[in-house]
Amino acid sequence: MIDKKLIEKYDKPLPRYTSYPPATSFHAEYTADDYKKSVQLSNHQAPQGISLYLHIPFCPRLCLYCGCTTLITRQDIMIANYLEALKKEISMVAEWLDLARPVTQIHWGGGTPNALSAAQVGDIMALIHTTFKVEAATEIAIECNPAHLNLEYLDALFEMGFNRISLGIQDFNEEVLNTVHRDLPNLPINTLTQYIRQHSVGVNYDFIYGLPGQTEATFAQTIQQALELKPDRLVTFSYAHVPWVKPHQNTLEKAGLPSAEEKLAMFTTAYQMMVDSGDYMAIGLDHFALKQDPLSRALSNHQLHRNFQGYCTRETTGQVYAFGMSAISQLFDSYAQNTKNIKGYIDLINSGQPAIDKGYHLTTDELIIKEVITELMCNNRLDWQELAIRLKTDVAQLKAITQYSEEKMQPYVNDGLLLIINDTLNITESGRFTIRNIVAELDPKLNSGNQRFSKSI
Ligand SMILES: C[S@@+](CC[C@H](N)C(=O)[O-])C[C@H]1O[C@@H](n2cnc3c(N)ncnc32)[C@H](O)[C@@H]1O
Ligand code: SF4
Repeated sequence: MIDKKLIEKYDKPLPRYTSYPPATSFHAEYTADDYKKSVQLSNHQAPQGISLYLHIPFCPRLCLYCGCTTLITRQDIMIANYLEALKKEISMVAEWLDLARPVTQIHWGGGTPNALSAAQVGDIMALIHTTFKVEAATEIAIECNPAHLNLEYLDALFEMGFNRISLGIQDFNEEVLNTVHRDLPNLPINTLTQYIRQHSVGVNYDFIYGLPGQTEATFAQTIQQALELKPDRLVTFSYAHVPWVKPHQNTLEKAGLPSAEEKLAMFTTAYQMMVDSGDYMAIGLDHFALKQDPLSRALSNHQLHRNFQGYCTRETTGQVYAFGMSAISQLFDSYAQNTKNIKGYIDLINSGQPAIDKGYHLTTDELIIKEVITELMCNNRLDWQELAIRLKTDVAQLKAITQYSEEKMQPYVNDGLLLIINDTLNITESGRFTIRNIVAELDPKLNSGNQRFSKSI
């Protein structure tokens, strides 16, 4: 059972560590030239796989909770100009890449990629297929809003080689969806799921908790419904309320947001239901995968990785080359983010330059901290010796760089959150809920900055 007292004890503002260093550290001194050099160098760095991310920012209607980089438009001209720029950007970056490297993952994110016509998606997929080495094992995934999905569209996606469809369900409760201005699914989720399954394609579900009208009981009903449909993977996102960045979210305050206590109850109940079902393994705190899914197997073998697009296995992992406005590339030792301004993006790409707005180049020490943090966050475990061998260094060096000491870890050991056996850190089942706190102990930069973070849980 989840110990709510411990969760409350450790609930304090910390980075989410979806990247290290976090995106808030990116700066404008990292330029388009730096990006070009980083891409060229990345051909000789690890991992060898190429992961492509395509950002499609367009949505037909604004969901009031939305925290993504979106543009609410149905303007055909703007969309067509954007897609032309996207193709130019792909061709430009491809010139700097060693195209013998295999593409291990292609991810279409948004916005609403399925707001594009199947022909528009197909046009870009054709360019990718003729440019890169896409293999049968390449994971090709797309985030879809079920409000704009039908069986013909799915057929077209299967034809193009998509083998993972992510459905943004958010909640099965129609009242909740209406309150947040989320259009209802075009076809029942059951019908979509069965159809995707029949084609041997993976299906993921996204949910959010913490929205107006949701209670512990209603969200439990939603999770129960999901469990009956058995998606391969499922995510429960904690609603991030940031009205100072996304003013449209203010409307949700008026509709009445659940209290922090209610939100915690939704999270813990959903987590417990998923684990108790016996069908799923918890991947981190809010991702779940069927026990036979490659992600669960990778977790069992301590071989799970992650990037901004989510979790991946040793087979699907790659350095991420991201395309489109606001998209973030994640290379061996650097991050690079494109401008969030659509006109600026299209103009820069059309003038033959990358559209980089900011980025970050990691030092040798930061590369090590990143590996240590990723290992613990993904695999709930850190074998210093094993990692030292993989990074071609020694344990003393790893510990010195992360300022590790057993004394620092003692409070977590005393609270039953961490076990240290033969110099290996093992996060316990309860410790998963305080993973950000444990990881933060190994982040020497954390206390030197003055950044603000959301609470750890
Ligand atoms: C980038 S969206 C793309 C998917 C697609 N636009 C859709 O809504 O179905 C990916 C997921 O982010 C989540 N999301 C969006 N806004 C959020 C917020 N403010 N807090 C937490 N999760 C959010 C939603 O669950 C959504 O499915
Ligand atoms: S469809 Fe997705 S990206 Fe678009 S507004 Fe809604 S949540 Fe945001």
